[in-house]
Amino acid sequence: MNPLIIAIWLMLPAYLPNNFAVFFGGGKPLDFGRNFLDGRRILGDGKTFRGTIIGTLGGVGIGLVLDFVASSRPDLGLPDFGSGYELIPVLLGLSLGAMAGDVVASFFKRRMRMKRGESLFLVDQLDFVIGSWALTLLLAPRWFSENFTSEIILIVLIVTPALHRATNIIGYKIKAKKEPW
Ligand code: CTP
Ligand code: MG
Repeated sequence: MNPLIIAIWLMLPAYLPNNFAVFFGGGKPLDFGRNFLDGRRILGDGKTFRGTIIGTLGGVGIGLVLDFVASSRPDLGLPDFGSGYELIPVLLGLSLGAMAGDVVASFFKRRMRMKRGESLFLVDQLDFVIGSWALTLLLAPRWFSENFTSEIILIVLIVTPALHRATNIIGYKIKAKKEPW
């Protein structure tokens, strides 16, 4: 199978949580509306409980479907998301890690006095990638190193900013998102 397809396939459980969060987010913010020591919001109203939970479950759900496809059609040559119990740490790593990376980035954006929704080039595009890799490496190191070869990692770093930009423009056009980034 083409390595570009494999790279996107492996990252779908990390890509989709943020899109789910955009659609289903809202309600109580993760920081409960509280400020940090600098008098600014800890995370801001853009990081909510509902968005984070539904985003994570959405990513795990997609991952289960993809894993089922990969396992039942080995002829396609698409990687699975771990055998047996490994499936759960892998999918949680990818999808919860993506949400966590985005939350950590918002923390730093607020410290940089950036308002909710203000764009920070490359951080907005790659925060969730770094978060998903970090947590997956921690929870399922063997699966991670077997699947994320240096070639796949390089492809992900190159195509993700473009994919992210494209989906956010679509999200903006269909009015699911306030800004086109
Ligand atoms: N969202 C959410 N919970 C999350 C992440 C996102 O509810 N953990 C929802 C929010 O409605 C948010 C939207 O998805 O406004 C877009 O997400 P994102 O671009 O990550 O947030 P921003 O609003 O741009 O805020 P920030 O400046 O902190 O990135
Ligand atoms: Mg944003």
